[in-house]
Amino acid sequence: MNDHPPTTLRRLTARVRENRRLPAGQFILTLESPELAAEVRPGHFVHIQVDEVFTLPRPISVMGSDVEAGTIDLLIKSIGEGTRRMAKWGKGRAVRMLGPVGNTFTPIEAPGRALMIAGGVGLAPLEFLARTLVERGIETSLLFGTETDPPFATRLAQRPFDGADATESFTFDRLEKAGVINRLATLAERPGYFKGFVTDLARKHLNSLPPEQRARTTLYVCGPTPMMAAAARVADEFGVHGEASLEAHMACGFGGCAGCVAKVKADTPEGWWYKRVCVDGPVFSLSSLHLD
Ligand SMILES: Cc1cc2nc3c(=O)[nH]c(=O)nc-3n(C[C@H](O)[C@H](O)[C@H](O)COP(=O)(O)OP(=O)(O)OC[C@H]3O[C@@H](n4cnc5c(N)ncnc54)[C@H](O)[C@@H]3O)c2cc1C
Ligand code: FES
Repeated sequence: MNDHPPTTLRRLTARVRENRRLPAGQFILTLESPELAAEVRPGHFVHIQVDEVFTLPRPISVMGSDVEAGTIDLLIKSIGEGTRRMAKWGKGRAVRMLGPVGNTFTPIEAPGRALMIAGGVGLAPLEFLARTLVERGIETSLLFGTETDPPFATRLAQRPFDGADATESFTFDRLEKAGVINRLATLAERPGYFKGFVTDLARKHLNSLPPEQRARTTLYVCGPTPMMAAAARVADEFGVHGEASLEAHMACGFGGCAGCVAKVKADTPEGWWYKRVCVDGPVFSLSSLHLD
């Protein structure tokens, strides 16, 4: 989080410690890099060189770090040739990358509380943030929306969540064990899931809170652009501050090419201007985003 000394972006070589297959073409890549493990904070990403054939690296958020083991975890979904090749990487493979890249989420202090909205692999940076906040004693909950098989094992929730019915009670075991109350949402009929958009579940939750608790809530969002736009509307509706980690197509990853720009509100005739997601972001205030 951004209450730590600035990090230096540099080229690194890490080694694959483990590559765990998950449902729906997803996998967790555990990379050995003691220096990255010590430095990365929630929001950072690494810009990975796939191999000699691919000119452009692939940006991937950090999902967690284990300083003692000297490793970082990445949650990746295979969607194209680069990520498909990464899915096949075995133990010991050398991985060249830039890191740590980007800014980080802004920390909150108690009695602040965090509500996270994640879609797909947008779960990765928010899991890292959620665990970090819980360690600091911050009340943290996470809502996950998916239309495919979720990456992690689910089970019946042990802890209640304001605004969710008893029938909407599946939870990610690994996050609940870490102290993060969480629920799942999908548009399909799935027992244990909230039926609807994940942002509708967030709205139900915020509606059920007393104003004093709502005022202490900060939203953190990462996922597909339409989901982030819906989350920005929820934040606006309830007067809640929020931050979003953006995904954009990227080239250099160090601010030199403007290949990754996003529109942010600005005092221009158009009402917006460009910011580079790789170095000005990927984390932006929700209210600053100009999401079409
Ligand atoms: C800051 C940041 C963090 C990210 N974190 C993760 C993560 O934690 N886990 C993860 O699985 N992915 C993450 N991504 C997305 C990931 O970088 C892309 O999925 C990856 O680069 C695709 O490479 P590819 O060669 O497999 O697919 P390509 O062949 O390059 O693309 C396949 C398809 O996906 C589209 N696509 C590619 N990249 C993006 C993108 N960035 N946004 C929207 N559409 C895209 C292409 O247009 C194409 O249709 C992140 C992206 C950014 C910018
Ligand atoms: S990817 Fe080149 S400026 Fe962001």
